[in-house]
Amino acid sequence: MNGDFVVTPWEVSGEVDYDKLVVRFGTSYITPDLISKIPGGKENLFLRRRLFYSHRDLDWLLGLNGKGHPFYLYTGRGPSSGTHLGHMIPWIFTRQLQEAFGVKLYFQMTDDEKFLFKDKLSLEDTASATADNMLDFIALGFNPAMTRIIVDTRDINHLYRTALKVAKKITFSTARAVFGFSNSTNIGSIFFTSVQSVPAFIESDLEGRNVPCLIPCGIDQDPHFRVTRDVAPMLGYFKPALIHGKMLPGLSGGKMSSTGNAAIYTTDDDKTVKKKVMNAFTGGRATVEEQRRLGANPDICPVYHHFEFMFEPDDGKLKKIETDCRSGALLCGDCKQNLLSKVIKFMSEHRIKREKAKETVGNYAFNPDKVI
Ligand code: TRP
Repeated sequence: MNGDFVVTPWEVSGEVDYDKLVVRFGTSYITPDLISKIPGGKENLFLRRRLFYSHRDLDWLLGLNGKGHPFYLYTGRGPSSGTHLGHMIPWIFTRQLQEAFGVKLYFQMTDDEKFLFKDKLSLEDTASATADNMLDFIALGFNPAMTRIIVDTRDINHLYRTALKVAKKITFSTARAVFGFSNSTNIGSIFFTSVQSVPAFIESDLEGRNVPCLIPCGIDQDPHFRVTRDVAPMLGYFKPALIHGKMLPGLSGGKMSSTGNAAIYTTDDDKTVKKKVMNAFTGGRATVEEQRRLGANPDICPVYHHFEFMFEPDDGKLKKIETDCRSGALLCGDCKQNLLSKVIKFMSEHRIKREKAKETVGNYAFNPDKVI
């Protein structure tokens, strides 16, 4: 159906209307006033372009922070496959927030989730995706003194007690209503959201007092944290605050899917990247003549969105791409070529950092005895 779209933690499809999601989910917009309370907020690419645009209780968290009350960050990754550019957007933003505030970060890798939810994945598959994805995360430059990676199957002994307390407060009917489970859903999946809740409370558990938590995530993860937030006061914790991002669309249109061929993976070679970029869906016209005459549509164009999210940090230059696209002055072939050279450059730098990350992964392992 035209105009219809689905956004859940397991499925993103259709043309997502992010304004409608704010209404559907009952979240709030990030206002300029809130942005001004984030150090470097007005200059931040994701905030000034409204790519991270929605929140829950960010005002509360920043208010406390302004009074000298420290908080920490929590985000994560479900390791089901290699890492593509879309996965890295919230991580990049999280790193910027970590730097801006100088706070701790817990990064949860939900290998259990992906094992449970993806029929075809074995625990060996999710373990190798975990080891692989971790390198991409570390390659983004997180400070090892302030950052801990939690791997669910490895670190469950530190999560299980709190997961149980959370699970005891969530009924099957709530889980079914929030996540759309049915009688044929496996019981591990039904329990899982309690594990994803734990890092929102982990610093409070470790510190023995309530520490506010801010979770940057794609807005598709909001259903999990609605449940976490409902349960928090029943267990004596603060509700975690959330800051929601839009999702980078895949190069063939729609969300960058792990199953489609349209996402650029960090392990793709230049030839593969070239093929993906040059074959991308665009907002262009059928012929050059038509495009010159009528112009094209950047709003629906994943190539344009790649510039917007990552590859054209200069607002003036981004505006020129947009204007020239709409007027017909810019043709899709040239625009793709421009994107390709930027992606290739990013990839060559990322590959080196990713290799280096192999030497430092051990520094990020979660260890409750070692205060970070
Ligand atoms: N469920 C997320 C995924 O499938 C992974 C995840 C766990 C996460 N904890 C998180 C994402 C916190 C964002 C914030 O990718």
